Amino acid sequence: MSEFVGAPKITSLADLFAVAYQIEIDAVARYKLLAGQMETHNNPELVAVFNDLARAEGIHAEEIRRQARRRLALLNDLLNQSSLRALALKGGERVLDVGAGLGQLTRAIARAVGPAGRVLGIERSAEQIAEARRLARADGEERLLEMRQGDVLELDLAAGEWGSFDVAHARFILEHVPDPLRVVRAMVRAVRVGGRIVIEDDDHDVLRLWPEPAGLMELWRAYIRSYEQNGNDPYVGRRLVALLHAAGALPTRNAWLFFGGCAGDGRIDLFVRNLVDLLEGAREAILAAGPVDRARFDAAIAATRAWGERPDAAFWFARCWAEGVRTGP
Ligand SMILES: C[S@@+](CC[C@H](N)C(=O)[O-])C[C@H]1O[C@@H](n2cnc3c(N)ncnc32)[C@H](O)[C@@H]1O
Repeated sequence: MSEFVGAPKITSLADLFAVAYQIEIDAVARYKLLAGQMETHNNPELVAVFNDLARAEGIHAEEIRRQARRRLALLNDLLNQSSLRALALKGGERVLDVGAGLGQLTRAIARAVGPAGRVLGIERSAEQIAEARRLARADGEERLLEMRQGDVLELDLAAGEWGSFDVAHARFILEHVPDPLRVVRAMVRAVRVGGRIVIEDDDHDVLRLWPEPAGLMELWRAYIRSYEQNGNDPYVGRRLVALLHAAGALPTRNAWLFFGGCAGDGRIDLFVRNLVDLLEGAREAILAAGPVDRARFDAAIAATRAWGERPDAAFWFARCWAEGVRTGP
């Protein structure tokens, strides 16, 4: 085992396993490593066993990836249906979708406005745009997706595009920018007089799980603080109407779009896994925001996962939703 710097001398198979499991690599790599070691120990039987295990883990990982993709698609459907209902689009409308991400909602909007309409998605990340195009292609909907790379803080439309859209829409973008008003002002300028500006965003204060999983809310508060440390507003949802007003639009509607459920509705797993993925994805930022340490982080995640199996689990979240109208030039 001289390949492992600082590794103890291996005198038995148990030692070999102990060392292999201390190494922070994925299971496929670990089994390949063990197979390689068995080769040097001239043990063809164990080489075959570890190679089989590596293959099995590989298949398992692909299965996990497949399940994750299905879960994301379900989540998107769930979110998109309520967004579309609230948007109440008419055929032929021209829509600007700012911070369009992977473009699933952008495409759903394009389906809603039909071939006489137009949807333009603005997205900063070239990777997101490439993935959005790949997803659209996989669904045979490439022609529905018009994406342009751009920064919504410096919205750069062509001269003839300003004031031409019927609707400007943004979902989950204001929480990621340091100056949300700048974005809303640009959205107001982008629509025609009488056009609508529709914004959906989070107010992270509204998460409720009951009975509360041990340690989860402490973790959630640290997650919220990580937004603030990035210079973004984790409570921007409560400011949507105020932002529309400050940007010169007339706020006309204000609502919550519910996102939650309970044990027995067949979807609680989706909400729990989404929450866990979200927190796991922000692990380092949360730990940096303090005061949660790694052990408390892991314990709260485990408690939340276990909570998802309870027959009395109830989950509430909602995003803020507001609409305004451009009243003048
Ligand atoms: C959470 S995603 C939301 C995507 C989509 N609106 C949805 O609801 O599914 C936020 C997206 O905004 C993009 N974004 C963040 N800051 C941006 C900026 N300044 N200009 C353009 N896009 C930005 C990110 O790359 C990301 O794709």
